[in-house]
Parts: sequence; C-alpha cells; structure tokens
Amino acid sequence: MADLRWTEEMSVGDVALDRDHQEFLAIAACLDARSSDRGVVVDALAKLELYVHGHFQREEQLMQQINFPHLAGHRLRHDWFRARMKAIGEIYRHGDPSVGGALPDLVGRWFFHHILEDDKRYAHWLAELARHEQAQ
Ligand SMILES: [Fe+2]
Ligand SMILES: [Fe+2]
Repeated sequence: MADLRWTEEMSVGDVALDRDHQEFLAIAACLDARSSDRGVVVDALAKLELYVHGHFQREEQLMQQINFPHLAGHRLRHDWFRARMKAIGEIYRHGDPSVGGALPDLVGRWFFHHILEDDKRYAHWLAELARHEQAQ
C-alpha cells in the first residue's frame, strides 16, 4: 500500500473528489509506514475525521445532482466507514492504542474496495452522462 501512487486511471472525473482521494492515499501511505507511532496515528485519525466529514458530503451531493441510482447503498457504506473511524478514534483516545494497529488494514481495504470500486461506479455514470450530453 505504501508504494501506491495516484494515477489518472483512479480519477472519478471530478477535480475536488480526486484531490480528496489523493489526500486519503497520502494518509494511508503514512499509516502504513509508521502505524505504531502515536503521533502518526493521532494525526491520521484527525485527518480521516475531516476526510469523512467533507469528502463523503461532497461525493453524496454530486451523486444526488447526477441522479446516481445507487446513492442509498453508497451512503450506507459511507455511514459504516464513518462509524468505524469514530469508534476507533474514541477507543484510541480513551487509552487503548492497540486499535491503532487495525487502521492500516481498514484504510487499505477502503481504498481498494470503496474508492477503486464503489466510487468508480458513480464515475462511470458521470462519464456516461457527459457522453450523452455531447451527443445531443
Ligand atoms: Fe470517495
Ligand atoms: Fe464513496
């Protein structure tokens, strides 16, 4: 995961959302390299909390604007990740640093299964819409 670099194939076709995903990748790489370092984990948790707050909202707004038919399911997966981050953050801050060890795996899985799979579904829908508009 640490060597994973952003490529154009990862793009969802929206500059702001791509920037968010790049930021997520940077957090993941940092966690992967030094997840036993308390400073790194605390910093990553703070950044991930900001990420889930801003990015999920931006993404859901876009899906709504383009009438993406699978928004409800996508939102549920966002809710799941947000709850998971919140729980890990709370346990960590209340004195159990061992939960920090679960973060690299959680973040890595989210990158591969959500960003590169679920998010790609609305990206295809968005690209299709653009093609239809061009054809008219
Ligand atoms: Fe996303
Ligand atoms: Fe998403």
